[in-house]
Amino acid sequence: MDKKDLPIGFLDSGVGGLSVMREAIKIMPNENYIYFGDSKNAPYGVKPTKEIRDLTFNVVDFLIEKGIKGLVVACNTATSAAVSELRRVYPDIPLVGIEPAIKPAVELNRDGKILIMATPMTIKQEKFNLLLNKYKEKAEIIPIPCAGLMEFIENGVLSGKELEEYLEEKLSLYNKDDISSIVLGCTHYPFVKDTIAKIVGSNVAIMDGGEGTAREIKRRLKEKDLLTDRTETGNITIYNSLDDQRVIDLSLKLIEQS
Ligand code: DGL
Repeated sequence: MDKKDLPIGFLDSGVGGLSVMREAIKIMPNENYIYFGDSKNAPYGVKPTKEIRDLTFNVVDFLIEKGIKGLVVACNTATSAAVSELRRVYPDIPLVGIEPAIKPAVELNRDGKILIMATPMTIKQEKFNLLLNKYKEKAEIIPIPCAGLMEFIENGVLSGKELEEYLEEKLSLYNKDDISSIVLGCTHYPFVKDTIAKIVGSNVAIMDGGEGTAREIKRRLKEKDLLTDRTETGNITIYNSLDDQRVIDLSLKLIEQS
């Protein structure tokens, strides 16, 4: 098979990475996609780094065995724990990770605080703190660890009272008029963006790294002349470590959500 016709692989600790894959599908509709959600081992964001790294490698090995031409680590937590090691072990595959979109939030140049919602593990990592330090002179950036939030999305709960109460509690410390933007530093969170907006109001910009990451894998594949020549719409294959049709159905529903 021509290497150009191989799928692009995406992975996450669960269904979150689909928020990145749907952006890739928008700009590369003719590509084939293969997605692995490790919902059985989710959440990654409260586990020790070594365990996250081992889990991530297991998933990457699975995808590579299936045959992929590029890889997107569509999980902030797995990226911070494993991306440098992955690049070392797989130097030949175009590989893109995701990190919280702090730069675009700072570049909005708005008055007020930038809140970063992410998993406790992402916030603890050196990679994240280096990123934070880079921008700390330019804006007041406040990380908010959100243990428990990804579980709502894994369970298909994207709105409703319980989720609103969770978010109210996380965000109640900040005056809404004093927030410039919220960065969604976990790929699950874009699926509850509307509920977050309902709580903070429409004046707060809510950003995520999905689109930027999709553009980056496209650029990397193009550079290696690996973009498909096909003109028909590509296929999507979803795998999940949970042996449960409901998680596959949820995954397909989330891809459709615009
Ligand atoms: N979707 C993942 C991320 O982007 C994390 C969720 C988790 O497993 O804790 O960080």
